[in-house]
Amino acid sequence: MCGIFGYIGDKKTAPSIVLKGLKTLEYRGYDSWGVAVVPEKKTTEKVIVVKKKAGKIGNADVVDMPEGSLAFGHTRWATHGGVTDKNAHPHLDCTKTIAVIHNGIVENYEKLKTKLEGLGHRFVSETDTEVIAHLVEEYLKKYSVLPRDAAPAFSKAVQATFQELEGLNAIIVINTAAEEMVAARNGSPLVAGFGHGENYLASDPAALLPHTKQVHFLEDDEMVIVSKGGIHIFNAHTGQRVRPRKQLLTWTAEETEKGKFPYFMLKEIHEQAGLLSEIASESPEQSILIARELKKAPRVYMVGAGTSAHAARAASYFFSLIAGKLVNYGVASEFDHRLSVIPKDGALMALSQSGETMDLLEVVKKAKEKNIKIFSLVNVVGSTLWRMSDEHLAIGAGPEKGVASTKSFITKIAHLLLIAYAMTDKVKEGQKNLIKAAKSTKIVTSKAHTHAIMALAKKLKDEQHLYIIGHGLSYCAALESALKIKEISYIHAEGIPAGELKHGTLALVTKGTVCVVFAPRDEHYQSTMANAMEMKARGGYIIGISDKNEEIFDEFLQVPDAGIATIIPNIIVAQMLAYYLTIERGFDPDMPRNLAKSVTVK
Ligand code: G6P
Repeated sequence: MCGIFGYIGDKKTAPSIVLKGLKTLEYRGYDSWGVAVVPEKKTTEKVIVVKKKAGKIGNADVVDMPEGSLAFGHTRWATHGGVTDKNAHPHLDCTKTIAVIHNGIVENYEKLKTKLEGLGHRFVSETDTEVIAHLVEEYLKKYSVLPRDAAPAFSKAVQATFQELEGLNAIIVINTAAEEMVAARNGSPLVAGFGHGENYLASDPAALLPHTKQVHFLEDDEMVIVSKGGIHIFNAHTGQRVRPRKQLLTWTAEETEKGKFPYFMLKEIHEQAGLLSEIASESPEQSILIARELKKAPRVYMVGAGTSAHAARAASYFFSLIAGKLVNYGVASEFDHRLSVIPKDGALMALSQSGETMDLLEVVKKAKEKNIKIFSLVNVVGSTLWRMSDEHLAIGAGPEKGVASTKSFITKIAHLLLIAYAMTDKVKEGQKNLIKAAKSTKIVTSKAHTHAIMALAKKLKDEQHLYIIGHGLSYCAALESALKIKEISYIHAEGIPAGELKHGTLALVTKGTVCVVFAPRDEHYQSTMANAMEMKARGGYIIGISDKNEEIFDEFLQVPDAGIATIIPNIIVAQMLAYYLTIERGFDPDMPRNLAKSVTVK
């Protein structure tokens, strides 16, 4: 949540470098944006220049601001205060010589604000963030005894401020008197990037790829001073120096580009067939290792948020169907009651694209306190979840920028299928199924199939409600499909177990009610068709997703069978339907309103 990018170095075009960095981070929040620069030209009254605005960044590559070699910026996902120009970050202190950007929530901001107002500080925004700028100002007054002491005084002032903040926060502060950025983290992610004659800070490693691949992921309570000449890390409480844990990023800058596609989501949908083939052909060593551990554990729990929670649910079906192992799963924000009953020798499997989702990290933290072993499937290697886990597996989806997860869901599912097979020493069978799924995916994403999906999207674009049904794994597909449709096209969609229709939802079916039916050729086929019939008999308009057309289908989208892995191409068809519905309705599929890709607040 909220994108952060900071630059200090030889170049005088820092504001434009920051603007470009922010554009790569816009998926983290796009309510508003802002850049601050310490201007190069020395004036008698040197103040920080800020440009900030509500709304998306737009297309400009250069920001019209004074030259400077120290700048930072922010893309906002509003928490405190409405979406206005004034509430956009960066925020300044009273003297306009200190600027701050922030990701998180300052829980004690009201108390701090009252205290600061009492000391004469004037606030211009409704945000919790602004207290940070004024608090640094206050501490700086206290610590700046001599002007040449400015640099250490500044970092001391940021440290003292950070110690006063309650809640989970990442902050970066700059000051006209010190040629450095001072940052600290507790909860919200922050990464420092090592360049040559220049250094960086960002909320997400992908933003650093065009500049450097050498990074340090800040741990909680770490502070960092980033100057042109170096990056110094220390503990925010004890002040003790911390050795940089340099890590090499494996993604490339090209992977973060849209390429020939109009939107990231479409690009990411089309990458899936290739990714499935890769997973099927690479060494399954890590899946086997995790399978062995999960097999040993008397109880296994799976947890995730959003799409990752749907992956956890689908995995629970894989584990019982393939490996005969009962796995308990849940969404991270509702996991507390389970935590208290997980035995010490239980295993917690956490699933996440970003590895930074706060609700999930909270569960993992509490589980660790109970000495429960943590396994994770993560896309962003080096992320907080990655570092917190006893064993982790990189799902290898590559950078995912569409806010609605697509390829990270599919690659998670693919690895979980392999792990389930590995538990019964049949990993090869799992790989064969993935190859089938890759073939089926190639077909459903081909031109001919895409045209059929586009035509259907045209027909459905003015619908207000869609019901999606399935049995077993297809119920998991129904839930994930409904989420995709809701979050980007804004059509209300509901995933329902096919057998549950008669327990409520049928009451909503009238003439023309649209019902999508997942009907793969599995053990549930007959009963699913019977449930679809219940809809049809009440006037339902039935869209069948299956490998074979049936008379009751009013519309048919063909998905070649891939055995137990048919859930994969089935969901990919739904991703495409969601995407084209969104295009038909004139919305941006990459940046749905009110949402963000990485949810780092509770
Ligand atoms: C947000 C994103 C979703 C994602 C969820 C969990 O809501 O918009 O696409 O599924 O967070 O994210 P994670 O990174 O933990 O998988």
